[in-house]
Order: sequence, then structure tokens, then C-alpha cells
Amino acid sequence: MAERMWWKEAVVYQIYPRSFMDSNGDGIGDLKGILAKLDYLKWLGVDVVWFSPIYESPNNDMGYDISDYRSIMAQFGTMADFDRLLSGLHQREMRLVMDLVVNHTSDEHEWFRQARAAKDNPYRDYYIWRQKPNNWSSFFGGSAWELDEKTNEYYLHLFSAKQPDLNWDNPRVRAEIHDLMRWWLDKGVDGFRMDVIGCISKTPGLPDAPEGGKLAWGGAFFLNGPRVHEYLREMNAEVLSHYDVMTVGETLSVTPKEALEYTGFNRAELNMVFQFELMDIDSGPGGKWDVRDWQVSEFKRICSRWQRELYGRGWNSLYLNNHDQPRMVSRFGQDGKYRVESAKMLATLLHTLQGTPFIYQGEEIGMTNVCFERIEDYRDIETINWYKEQMAQGERPVKEIMRSICAKSRDNARTPMQWSEAAHGGFTTGIPWLRVNPNYRTLNVEQERADADSVLNYYRRLIRFRRENPVVVYGDYTLLEPEDETVYAFTRRLGEVCLLTVLNFTAGEQTFASPSGLLPDNLRLVLCNYAGGETSVGPTLHLRPYEARVYLTAAGSADGV
Ligand code: NOJ
Repeated sequence: MAERMWWKEAVVYQIYPRSFMDSNGDGIGDLKGILAKLDYLKWLGVDVVWFSPIYESPNNDMGYDISDYRSIMAQFGTMADFDRLLSGLHQREMRLVMDLVVNHTSDEHEWFRQARAAKDNPYRDYYIWRQKPNNWSSFFGGSAWELDEKTNEYYLHLFSAKQPDLNWDNPRVRAEIHDLMRWWLDKGVDGFRMDVIGCISKTPGLPDAPEGGKLAWGGAFFLNGPRVHEYLREMNAEVLSHYDVMTVGETLSVTPKEALEYTGFNRAELNMVFQFELMDIDSGPGGKWDVRDWQVSEFKRICSRWQRELYGRGWNSLYLNNHDQPRMVSRFGQDGKYRVESAKMLATLLHTLQGTPFIYQGEEIGMTNVCFERIEDYRDIETINWYKEQMAQGERPVKEIMRSICAKSRDNARTPMQWSEAAHGGFTTGIPWLRVNPNYRTLNVEQERADADSVLNYYRRLIRFRRENPVVVYGDYTLLEPEDETVYAFTRRLGEVCLLTVLNFTAGEQTFASPSGLLPDNLRLVLCNYAGGETSVGPTLHLRPYEARVYLTAAGSADGV
């Protein structure tokens, strides 16, 4: 069994502060709003809260463009509010993980203001400059280079032009970052989620991407680049190893083998990474907006590969959505007739796999994608840029463009939290910065709290179940019937204890033949997303649409069904 660690046993809850709770009626969520909801988070049972960025920012990319790492965005409140929030979390025995966005800063950060003032400014080398751009495209469309007219050189920005990339090859930059990390850790924060940390090391010389025309995808030269592990080991030795913290790195395009280089127990880098293989399952050759169908067998293959390859050697993070991804119930379940059942089914998967589960705000009530009809209702820079680019190319009808946006826009996840059936879901007394999903009248926290069979109350049971059963955290993993296109079933074992999860991934009734000889005969049902039904494992299980069942050997503790 892997060494016990609090961050392995924890359940994390991600807050996107702009959309969580507005306390002052300006339509923007804030820290006092979060403070008012700490008892809710405690009641839910989560152990760790991760805040998407709350630092000063011009909000070109909603806080992922930081202009001062040591101050709080005025729209969100003050440092005194932050201190109250941190101690409120700690008093309730919850921990706080901050977003660390250090691949780039805002162009309004003092370092960049200095850097662009003159070529010989001491801060010039904090960023990456060229006389001529290479052919890399940026994540948000267009070239990854912007001309600085005053000094007549181009700077690199993998994201928007207002997010210049820091030059990690400069030891002064790394020392500054270590310093600001210590500053927050000394305040008492309990760890970091590291934004696109896999992009910090670029291949020397910044070569042109070989394929493509004028602009091309240069990922080969900055994803998991040549010195990334050296920089993370240094960060660990200088900073992280001196504190009892949790770290999770966002790493695009990593394979399990590469993930082990970041998270291996003997590596002294990070605790875990966010992988994107599952998030890419419905992307066609044209990338994320090119939505394609996916197969249950493919979904299982991806999850199982990560479960197997990291077991005993590194650690998985488990997530099916976040502030950049569509809502999981709309994407992998069904947000119509079987919304409740499929949201619970997916939650059962996340909370019985091996790894640390991350719940994204609103997931616990089964919030859905929004699909605004007009582009004017969207606020996300990535969505708006892509829409403009597509319209300018004029090759696809608007309807088709909006269909992709409806399926994939990041704003699906960013609509305000639905607290009650009051105006704007009880999120604000003003006008929300992004429209609330109109389904808030029937889908909100208040109603779900009062309903014992709600998605919300099911999450509470899952969280408690995980806490009471170490097999969920530390057990090994075996996939059953890999080719079955309807049911995802797997076992977890720890010593004598065996757990069996069976999930119907379809809107139809299905049967599942339990493999003879493989399962102990004293398994009994401990969790189910439907009332009634079979309570022991016969040779054939009859599953209702999106039914989820968890069985445990009789010796294990039961939650009751
Ligand atoms: C990943 C973040 O999750 C996303 O929201 C942001 O736009 C980019 N990194 C750039 O910081």
C-alpha cells in the first residue's frame, strides 16, 4: 500500500470565485461571498478548497493574467477578507490551495512594464524576446508573438497578447517565483494548483514548428520541455519541501509515463498532475471545437491506463470538469431525462477510482451546460476569439459554430452557482457578469439540500464513504470486461477487502454478466443511485439507465442504500 498522506485521502472542491457567491450586489462573486458559504462546504464534507486566481488582474483571461501576485483583486475584496477566509477554512478543518499562475504574467505586471520600457532594462530578460517571431500559434488563436512597438521586438505569449510568457531560464525569475510562493505559504496556505506548469521550459532557439503553414502548433517545443523537471525539483528543494503542502500541476498532453516523471514518489517534484487524455476524448482532428462521438470502451481504456500505470508509483488526480471544460453531466452523461441519475453515476466513478477527486463548483448539484444562443452572452476570451476567427474565415455556417461553442465553451462551467430559485439563482442581487443558466429555478442548492435523493446528498454519501473505506484510496484497480460498450465495471482491492463498481453509461437498460470466480461471494450493495433493486451480485446484473452500484465485501463498512 502506498504511504498514507492527507492529500491522497482528501476530496478537493474547486471554487471559481467570480461565479461562486456575490456579497455586495456588483454581479461578481467575491471573498465575502465565499466566507458566507464555508459552512455549506463543511456540510458537504470536502477537505480542501482550491481557489481559481484571486490576485490583482485586468481580467483579460479572468484572473489567469496576474498583475500583482501579492495582492487581492479589488473586485473580490481585500487581504483582510482573505485572511478571514483562510482562518475560517482552517477553523473548520479544511485547507486552502491557491492557483499559481507563473508560466506568464499580465502585461500590466510591474516586471513587464519595466521589461518593455527599454532593451537594457534589468527586467527585459524576465520575458522572451525575438527580433522576428517564429511560426507558433497561441492557445487563444493567432500568432504567439506580439510586437512591442516601442522597443521594436516581439515577445512570446502562449496565451493572449496580455499574458507574456516568463523566461524560466533566467534564475532571477525562478527566485522571484520561489519568493512569492513562500510569501503565501508563510501566510498559511496549504498548497498550489500550478497553471500550465508543463509549459514553463521552452526548447532553446524556439524552433519553427515543422508542420502547418504560416502559423503552426509548436507544442513539441514547449510542452514538457527540456528543463521542466530541473525547475520543479529546484522549486521543491527551495520551497515546497519546507512545508506540508499539496501540489497539483496542470500538464497538457502528458502520457502516464510523463506524468510519473512529475509525480513519481521518488521524484521530489509534484504530488499529482491534471492529465488531458480524457478531456480530449471528444475532440476530432480539428481540435477541441471539432466535437466527435466517443466510445465507452475508449473512456475505460484511458481511465484504466492511468489507474494501472500510476499505481504504487505516482498519484492520480480525478476530475471530469473544471472552469475550462464543459459540465460533465452534459458531456459524459445526459442532462435531460436522466440528469440526476447520470450525474450520480459519473460521481460514483470519480469517487471510487484511485486518486484524489476534484469537485468543480456546481458539479455537486449536477449543473449543466448553458448554450447561450447569442455570442454577445459569452465572456470567455477563448470562445470569443474562436468565434471571430471562424466568422472571418467564412467557411462554416454560424449555426455550426454556435453548436461547437455550446458543446465546448469554457463559459458552460462559469455560469453563476445556482444557490436557490431567487432571481439569478441567489448568486447576486445585481446583474451577474455572466448570465445564470435559466434552469436555476428547478436546479439549485436549496432544493437539493431538502431532497434526500438529490445529486447533492448523494455527493455527501460518496465523500463519507471514501473517508470510511481505505480501499477506495489505497486499493489496486482491475477493469472488468474492457470491450463492453455500455457498462464500466472495475474492482478495487486492499488486503481482504474488495470493492466492485458497476456503472451503466447508457440511457437504456443493460445487463452485466459478473465474471465467475473473480469476485468474492460476500459482496453486498453499499451505494446505488436508484432506490430498490438487486442487493447482491448474482451471475447477471440488471441495470437501469445510468445506474451506478458499489458493492463491498461484507467486512467493510456500509453506508446503507
Ligand atoms: C489554464 C487555465 O486553467 C485557463 O483558465 C487559462 O486560460 C490558461 N491556463 C492560461 O492561464
